[in-house]
Amino acid sequence: MTRILLIALLPAIVLSACSGHSTAASPEPAAYGAAIVESSGGKQITEVGTPLPQPVVVQVNDDQGAAVTGALVQLTGPNGIYLDPASGLTDPSGQFTSNISLGVTPGRYQIVATTKTKSGKNVDLKLEEIALGYQEVLGSQLNDQYCARCHNQESSPERVSNYDNLEVKPHPFTEGDTLNKMTDADLTAIISHGGPALNKSPLMAPYGYTLSKSEIQSLIAYIRMVSDPPYGAPGIVYAQK
Ligand code: HEC
Repeated sequence: MTRILLIALLPAIVLSACSGHSTAASPEPAAYGAAIVESSGGKQITEVGTPLPQPVVVQVNDDQGAAVTGALVQLTGPNGIYLDPASGLTDPSGQFTSNISLGVTPGRYQIVATTKTKSGKNVDLKLEEIALGYQEVLGSQLNDQYCARCHNQESSPERVSNYDNLEVKPHPFTEGDTLNKMTDADLTAIISHGGPALNKSPLMAPYGYTLSKSEIQSLIAYIRMVSDPPYGAPGIVYAQK
Protein backbone atom coordinates (compact mmCIF):
# COMPACT_ATOMS: atom_id res chain seq x y z
CA MET A 1 0.00 0.00 0.00
CA THR A 2 2.70 2.50 0.99
CA ARG A 3 4.77 1.45 -2.00
CA ILE A 4 1.92 2.19 -4.44
CA LEU A 5 1.39 5.58 -2.85
CA LEU A 6 5.08 6.40 -3.19
CA ILE A 7 5.14 5.48 -6.88
CA ALA A 8 2.06 7.58 -7.51
CA LEU A 9 3.63 10.55 -5.72
CA LEU A 10 7.03 10.30 -7.37
CA PRO A 11 6.38 12.43 -10.50
CA ALA A 12 4.90 15.17 -8.34
CA ILE A 13 7.98 15.16 -6.10
CA VAL A 14 10.36 15.49 -9.06
CA LEU A 15 8.30 18.32 -10.55
CA SER A 16 8.09 20.31 -7.36
CA ALA A 17 11.81 19.80 -6.76
CA CYS A 18 12.45 21.36 -10.17
CA SER A 19 10.33 24.46 -9.69
CA GLY A 20 11.71 24.84 -6.16
CA HIS A 21 15.20 24.91 -7.64
CA SER A 22 14.45 27.63 -10.15
CA THR A 23 12.90 29.98 -7.60
CA ALA A 24 15.81 29.36 -5.23
CA ALA A 25 18.15 30.66 -7.99
CA SER A 26 16.82 34.24 -7.63
CA PRO A 27 17.47 35.79 -4.23
CA GLU A 28 14.94 38.11 -2.58
CA PRO A 29 15.66 41.77 -3.39
CA ALA A 30 16.79 43.86 -0.42
CA ALA A 31 16.13 47.14 -2.26
CA TYR A 32 14.40 48.49 -5.36
CA GLY A 33 15.60 50.86 -8.06
CA ALA A 34 13.90 53.01 -10.68
CA ALA A 35 16.21 52.47 -13.65
CA ILE A 36 18.74 50.01 -15.02
CA VAL A 37 21.68 51.18 -17.17
CA GLU A 38 24.67 49.59 -18.88
CA SER A 39 28.06 50.04 -17.21
CA SER A 40 30.02 47.97 -19.72
CA GLY A 41 30.01 44.86 -21.85
CA GLY A 42 27.46 45.59 -24.58
CA LYS A 43 28.21 45.28 -28.32
CA GLN A 44 31.00 42.76 -27.96
CA ILE A 45 32.04 40.49 -30.81
CA THR A 46 33.11 36.90 -30.30
CA GLU A 47 33.04 33.51 -32.00
CA VAL A 48 29.97 31.29 -31.68
CA GLY A 49 29.97 29.22 -28.52
CA THR A 50 32.75 31.16 -26.80
CA PRO A 51 32.71 33.47 -23.79
CA LEU A 52 32.51 37.22 -24.37
CA PRO A 53 35.93 38.81 -23.76
CA GLN A 54 34.49 41.09 -21.04
CA PRO A 55 31.72 40.46 -18.52
CA VAL A 56 28.44 42.33 -18.87
CA VAL A 57 28.01 44.88 -16.05
CA VAL A 58 24.72 46.69 -15.43
CA GLN A 59 23.81 49.19 -12.72
CA VAL A 60 20.54 49.82 -10.90
CA ASN A 61 19.83 53.45 -9.93
CA ASP A 62 17.09 55.13 -7.89
CA ASP A 63 14.97 57.98 -9.26
CA GLN A 64 17.71 60.47 -8.26
CA GLY A 65 20.28 58.54 -10.32
CA ALA A 66 22.08 57.17 -7.25
CA ALA A 67 23.29 53.55 -7.24
CA VAL A 68 21.07 51.03 -5.41
CA THR A 69 22.63 48.13 -3.49
CA GLY A 70 20.72 44.86 -3.10
CA ALA A 71 18.35 45.25 -6.08
CA LEU A 72 17.50 42.07 -7.99
CA VAL A 73 18.70 41.87 -11.60
CA GLN A 74 17.56 39.09 -13.92
CA LEU A 75 19.09 38.43 -17.33
CA THR A 76 17.38 36.60 -20.16
CA GLY A 77 18.73 35.79 -23.61
CA PRO A 78 18.12 33.66 -26.69
CA ASN A 79 18.36 29.87 -26.71
CA GLY A 80 21.87 28.54 -26.32
CA ILE A 81 23.22 31.53 -24.40
CA TYR A 82 24.95 30.83 -21.08
CA LEU A 83 24.56 33.44 -18.35
CA ASP A 84 26.77 33.03 -15.29
CA PRO A 85 24.92 34.04 -13.20
CA ALA A 86 21.51 34.77 -14.74
CA SER A 87 20.31 36.67 -11.69
CA GLY A 88 21.57 38.23 -8.49
CA LEU A 89 21.60 41.30 -6.27
CA THR A 90 23.50 44.49 -7.06
CA ASP A 91 26.74 44.98 -5.14
CA PRO A 92 27.69 48.00 -2.94
CA SER A 93 28.37 50.05 -6.08
CA GLY A 94 24.91 49.20 -7.46
CA GLN A 95 26.30 46.84 -10.06
CA PHE A 96 25.53 43.31 -11.20
CA THR A 97 28.13 41.40 -13.22
CA SER A 98 27.60 38.33 -15.39
CA ASN A 99 29.98 36.28 -17.54
CA ILE A 100 28.28 35.34 -20.78
CA SER A 101 28.89 32.77 -23.50
CA LEU A 102 26.94 33.05 -26.75
CA GLY A 103 25.28 30.06 -28.44
CA VAL A 104 26.33 28.14 -31.54
CA THR A 105 24.11 30.06 -34.01
CA PRO A 106 25.90 33.02 -35.63
CA GLY A 107 23.99 36.27 -35.24
CA ARG A 108 23.00 39.05 -32.93
CA TYR A 109 22.07 38.02 -29.43
CA GLN A 110 19.79 40.32 -27.52
CA ILE A 111 20.12 40.16 -23.75
CA VAL A 112 17.48 41.77 -21.55
CA ALA A 113 18.41 42.86 -18.03
CA THR A 114 15.38 43.44 -15.80
CA THR A 115 14.91 44.87 -12.33
CA LYS A 116 11.72 45.57 -10.41
CA THR A 117 10.64 48.94 -9.01
CA LYS A 118 9.08 49.26 -5.55
CA SER A 119 5.61 49.23 -7.12
CA GLY A 120 6.40 45.92 -8.82
CA LYS A 121 6.87 47.31 -12.32
CA ASN A 122 9.63 45.76 -14.47
CA VAL A 123 12.23 48.07 -15.97
CA ASP A 124 14.35 46.66 -18.79
CA LEU A 125 17.67 47.29 -20.45
CA LYS A 126 18.45 45.67 -23.80
CA LEU A 127 22.02 44.79 -24.75
CA GLU A 128 23.28 43.25 -27.96
CA GLU A 129 26.23 40.91 -28.50
CA ILE A 130 27.48 39.43 -31.76
CA ALA A 131 28.48 35.80 -32.41
CA LEU A 132 30.59 35.29 -35.53
CA GLY A 133 30.23 32.03 -37.46
CA TYR A 134 33.01 30.29 -39.39
CA GLN A 135 32.82 32.56 -42.45
CA GLU A 136 32.69 35.78 -40.39
CA VAL A 137 35.62 34.64 -38.25
CA LEU A 138 37.63 34.17 -41.43
CA GLY A 139 36.57 37.66 -42.54
CA SER A 140 37.57 39.07 -39.16
CA GLN A 141 41.05 37.53 -39.49
CA LEU A 142 41.45 38.92 -43.02
CA ASN A 143 40.34 42.32 -41.71
CA ASP A 144 43.03 42.20 -39.01
CA GLN A 145 45.61 41.20 -41.59
CA TYR A 146 44.77 43.57 -44.47
CA CYS A 147 42.20 46.23 -43.64
CA ALA A 148 42.17 47.26 -39.99
CA ARG A 149 45.34 49.38 -40.16
CA CYS A 150 43.34 51.91 -42.22
CA HIS A 151 39.73 51.11 -41.33
CA ASN A 152 40.21 51.04 -37.56
CA GLN A 153 41.22 54.29 -35.89
CA GLU A 154 42.58 52.60 -32.81
CA SER A 155 46.10 51.23 -32.60
CA SER A 156 46.77 47.99 -30.74
CA PRO A 157 50.06 46.48 -29.50
CA GLU A 158 50.18 44.42 -32.73
CA ARG A 159 49.06 47.12 -35.12
CA VAL A 160 49.70 50.85 -35.43
CA SER A 161 46.76 52.56 -37.07
CA ASN A 162 47.47 54.37 -40.31
CA TYR A 163 44.09 56.16 -40.15
CA ASP A 164 45.43 59.56 -39.07
CA ASN A 165 47.84 59.66 -42.02
CA LEU A 166 45.13 59.16 -44.63
CA GLU A 167 43.95 62.19 -46.54
CA VAL A 168 40.61 60.55 -47.28
CA LYS A 169 39.15 58.84 -44.22
CA PRO A 170 37.82 55.29 -44.57
CA HIS A 171 34.91 54.15 -42.41
CA PRO A 172 35.19 51.61 -39.61
CA PHE A 173 33.25 48.49 -40.69
CA THR A 174 30.88 48.94 -37.75
CA GLU A 175 29.56 52.17 -39.31
CA GLY A 176 26.29 50.80 -40.63
CA ASP A 177 24.99 54.23 -41.66
CA THR A 178 27.53 54.25 -44.49
CA LEU A 179 28.19 50.58 -45.18
CA ASN A 180 24.54 49.44 -45.16
CA LYS A 181 23.88 51.73 -48.13
CA MET A 182 26.40 49.79 -50.20
CA THR A 183 25.17 46.63 -51.94
CA ASP A 184 27.14 43.38 -51.85
CA ALA A 185 28.09 44.13 -55.48
CA ASP A 186 29.44 47.57 -54.43
CA LEU A 187 31.51 46.00 -51.66
CA THR A 188 32.85 43.30 -53.98
CA ALA A 189 33.77 45.97 -56.56
CA ILE A 190 35.62 48.31 -54.20
CA ILE A 191 37.44 45.49 -52.40
CA SER A 192 38.44 43.75 -55.67
CA HIS A 193 39.24 46.80 -57.82
CA GLY A 194 39.96 49.55 -55.29
CA GLY A 195 38.40 52.98 -54.61
CA PRO A 196 38.30 54.16 -58.26
CA ALA A 197 35.83 51.32 -59.06
CA LEU A 198 33.22 53.40 -57.17
CA ASN A 199 34.70 56.83 -57.99
CA LYS A 200 36.44 56.89 -54.64
CA SER A 201 39.99 57.51 -53.53
CA PRO A 202 42.80 55.28 -54.87
CA LEU A 203 44.07 55.16 -51.26
CA MET A 204 41.65 52.22 -51.11
CA ALA A 205 43.80 49.67 -52.94
CA PRO A 206 42.55 46.79 -55.11
CA TYR A 207 42.65 43.41 -53.33
CA GLY A 208 41.44 41.27 -56.23
CA TYR A 209 44.96 39.96 -56.80
CA THR A 210 45.69 39.27 -53.14
CA LEU A 211 42.39 37.77 -52.00
CA SER A 212 40.28 34.99 -53.50
CA LYS A 213 36.57 35.47 -54.28
CA SER A 214 35.61 33.43 -51.23
CA GLU A 215 37.92 35.47 -49.00
CA ILE A 216 36.21 38.65 -50.25
CA GLN A 217 32.85 36.97 -49.51
CA SER A 218 34.05 36.27 -45.97
CA LEU A 219 35.07 39.91 -45.51
CA ILE A 220 31.63 41.03 -46.68
CA ALA A 221 29.93 38.54 -44.32
CA TYR A 222 32.02 39.98 -41.48
CA ILE A 223 31.26 43.62 -42.45
CA ARG A 224 27.51 42.81 -42.58
CA MET A 225 27.55 41.06 -39.22
CA VAL A 226 29.30 43.82 -37.26
CA SER A 227 27.47 46.83 -38.75
CA ASP A 228 25.68 49.10 -36.31
CA PRO A 229 22.80 49.72 -36.90
CA PRO A 230 22.36 46.12 -38.13
CA TYR A 231 22.30 45.29 -41.80
CA GLY A 232 18.83 43.95 -42.49
CA ALA A 233 19.34 41.85 -45.62
CA PRO A 234 17.96 38.33 -45.73
CA GLY A 235 20.53 35.68 -44.90
CA ILE A 236 21.58 37.15 -41.58
CA VAL A 237 20.53 34.89 -38.74
CA TYR A 238 19.06 36.70 -35.80
CA ALA A 239 19.33 34.66 -32.65
CA GLN A 240 15.74 33.93 -31.61
CA LYS A 241 14.51 34.46 -28.13
C1 HEC B 1 45.90 51.91 -47.08
C2 HEC B 1 44.67 52.10 -46.37
C3 HEC B 1 43.53 51.14 -46.65
C4 HEC B 1 43.53 49.76 -46.52
C5 HEC B 1 44.68 48.87 -46.08
C6 HEC B 1 42.17 49.32 -46.85
N1 HEC B 1 41.39 50.39 -47.16
FE1 HEC B 1 39.41 50.35 -47.64
N2 HEC B 1 39.39 52.36 -47.87
C7 HEC B 1 40.49 53.19 -47.67
C8 HEC B 1 40.09 54.56 -47.92
C9 HEC B 1 40.98 55.79 -47.81
C10 HEC B 1 38.72 54.52 -48.27
C11 HEC B 1 37.80 55.71 -48.59
C12 HEC B 1 37.79 56.00 -50.04
C13 HEC B 1 36.90 57.19 -50.35
O1 HEC B 1 35.94 57.45 -49.61
O2 HEC B 1 37.17 57.85 -51.35
C14 HEC B 1 38.33 53.13 -48.23
C15 HEC B 1 37.03 52.67 -48.51
C16 HEC B 1 36.61 51.37 -48.37
C17 HEC B 1 35.24 50.93 -48.49
C18 HEC B 1 34.03 51.84 -48.79
C19 HEC B 1 33.44 52.31 -47.49
C20 HEC B 1 34.30 53.34 -46.80
O3 HEC B 1 34.95 52.99 -45.80
O4 HEC B 1 34.35 54.50 -47.25
C21 HEC B 1 35.22 49.59 -48.25
C22 HEC B 1 34.02 48.68 -48.23
C23 HEC B 1 36.59 49.18 -48.01
N3 HEC B 1 37.40 50.30 -48.08
C24 HEC B 1 36.96 47.90 -47.71
C25 HEC B 1 38.28 47.53 -47.42
C26 HEC B 1 38.67 46.17 -47.13
C27 HEC B 1 37.74 44.98 -47.06
C28 HEC B 1 40.03 46.19 -46.91
C29 HEC B 1 40.94 45.01 -46.61
C30 HEC B 1 40.90 43.93 -47.55
C31 HEC B 1 40.47 47.57 -47.04
N4 HEC B 1 39.37 48.35 -47.34
C32 HEC B 1 41.77 48.00 -46.84
C33 HEC B 1 41.74 52.83 -47.27
C34 HEC B 1 42.17 51.52 -47.04
